[in-house]
Amino acid sequence: MDTVIAKNINEETMDKAGEIIRKGGLVAFPTETVYGLGANAFSEDAVKKIYKAKGRPSDNPLIVHLSDVSEVETVAREIPGCARKLLKNYAPGPFTLILKKQDKIGDTVTAGLDTVGVRIPSHPVARKFIKAAGVPVAAPSANLSGKPSPTNEKHVIEDMKGRIDMIICGGSSEVGVESTIIDCTTKIPTILRPGGITPEDVASVCGSVEIDGHILKSLEKDEQPKCPGMKYKHYAPDADVAVVEGEKEATEKEIVRLSKEAKEKGYKVGVLAMENRGFCADTFICSGTDGKSMAMRLFDALRQFDEKGTDIVFAQMCLDEKSGLAVRNRLYKSAGGKIIYVSK
Ligand code: TXA
Ligand code: MG
Repeated sequence: MDTVIAKNINEETMDKAGEIIRKGGLVAFPTETVYGLGANAFSEDAVKKIYKAKGRPSDNPLIVHLSDVSEVETVAREIPGCARKLLKNYAPGPFTLILKKQDKIGDTVTAGLDTVGVRIPSHPVARKFIKAAGVPVAAPSANLSGKPSPTNEKHVIEDMKGRIDMIICGGSSEVGVESTIIDCTTKIPTILRPGGITPEDVASVCGSVEIDGHILKSLEKDEQPKCPGMKYKHYAPDADVAVVEGEKEATEKEIVRLSKEAKEKGYKVGVLAMENRGFCADTFICSGTDGKSMAMRLFDALRQFDEKGTDIVFAQMCLDEKSGLAVRNRLYKSAGGKIIYVSK
């Protein structure tokens, strides 16, 4: 399939993208979190194409994207008080609400669940695109299943060129990790996936918040997660990733030791850390020093390590629980649970 790569964002581009969606095609588009791969959420046939293009398991539901808060009722049949407060305070923005679905939203979107993920992105191009489509847009991240989510157009082109109808280019994503997923069907709102809207943000408007226990922990064998996406090894680069966690200087020392050892064994070594402290790395990438900058750079860094043919990546993690929640969750997943804790 020929993929139109739209670099100039003008009215004509948006009209064309909207038309593709209405005709049942697939369009990748930028959002403030990561790029999405969109289809008409009301067309089961169109939505099926998303799973095919990504190689995504069919039991992993999609998020429905809207251009405005006023449209939430078209896809959700119940909007509890906490959901209304979150929408009023933070929409449009980097979060997704889990709500009871309307019948019009089919089983292919929700993977058979009675709930639907609803998100109103703040990125102006995303909103214009959804408006031009004139229908709610079902969209997962625009990566091949199992790859890190795309945070710039180059990533999307790498994964999706030839598989979809159009890619709308919009530069780098500002947040860099996927939206916070907040389940509003529970008595107390529950965070199923951490992101740009923090637990503190949720608690400050809803009064309280719960954090799903699986955010920093792997699933037990045969355990069913609330957020089906949790059970898949996500965000995985080809290289093995080991998270080295602890206080800054202690983790640096340990990465010096581990990188030297791996190099001596003949591995191609990558290091993702705050500063280059004499590591034995073929590729060093600066991680940034706070939660926000680390989130923005993480997925691009994982892809760069793969481009360089890296065998093993040592990733430093010394953020506290609060500021590090979203990055820690993504790093733990990309490491498939390989975490090395170091004490002083
Ligand atoms: O920031 C984002 O959320 C991006 C952009 C494109 O908006 N989208 C995204 O979609 O990350 P995806 O498909 O890569 O991740 C969606 C996650 C999956 O883990 C899925 O299991 C969960 O949302 N999800 C979707 N609908 C759900 C539902 N009804 N109940 C629980 N989890 C749901
Ligand atoms: Mg994804």
